[in-house]
Amino acid sequence: MAALIAPSILSADFANLERDLGKIATADWAHVDVMDNHFVPNLTIGLPVVERLVQVSPVPVDTHLMIEDPDRWAPGFAEAGAQSVTFHAEAATAPVRLARELRRLGSRAGLALRPATPVEPFLDLLSEIDMLLVMTVEPGFGGQSFIEGTLPKIQRARRAISAADLDVWVQVDGGISRATIERAADAGANVFVAGSAVYGADDVPAEIDTLRQLASK
Ligand code: DX5
Ligand code: ZN
Repeated sequence: MAALIAPSILSADFANLERDLGKIATADWAHVDVMDNHFVPNLTIGLPVVERLVQVSPVPVDTHLMIEDPDRWAPGFAEAGAQSVTFHAEAATAPVRLARELRRLGSRAGLALRPATPVEPFLDLLSEIDMLLVMTVEPGFGGQSFIEGTLPKIQRARRAISAADLDVWVQVDGGISRATIERAADAGANVFVAGSAVYGADDVPAEIDTLRQLASK
């Protein structure tokens, strides 16, 4: 399975988002973290900014909604043209209904799990989604260390997806770098979010290439 690299603009310069999106034109997706200061203890950007980012981004936008009440707010991000909209399992009231709504609006539907949330209760939902996001840090901030203990969950998710013969992508987010991306790929991830590793690099396109190669081995 091809590895997709999704740099997170959480580590970009928020006064220069269009310029910094231009730096990741060779990536597969631009990962946009929406935080509401309720689901996570941090506040980033909302729908009006994401609407503009979708318009100026050189690559499709992958939104990661770390917000309460995604049932109410997530469809707006699909309507804004985000290619992928991921909401948290811990926050959604009716995840199947929401995933169907996102797909109806033309977006890929993603379901995210915090590091301590098991995948097993959500296996029946796999046929309703396009991507499972296994958080590899506690959501809320960039620059944290990869939690090794999430690797078995990535493996269990990938096994369940293969056993059901589904085409569901497995995304990892948090602490992904040259040092960790191969282990995440070996465990079964195929979409890799990297914020500080990409935007902290001297040569951003070269870093994207390196991460893609490491994940594709
Ligand atoms: C954290 C966000 C991540 C963050 C990752 O809650 O969901 O997307 O930007 O940052 P790094 O790659 O620096 O761990
Ligand atoms: Zn994220």
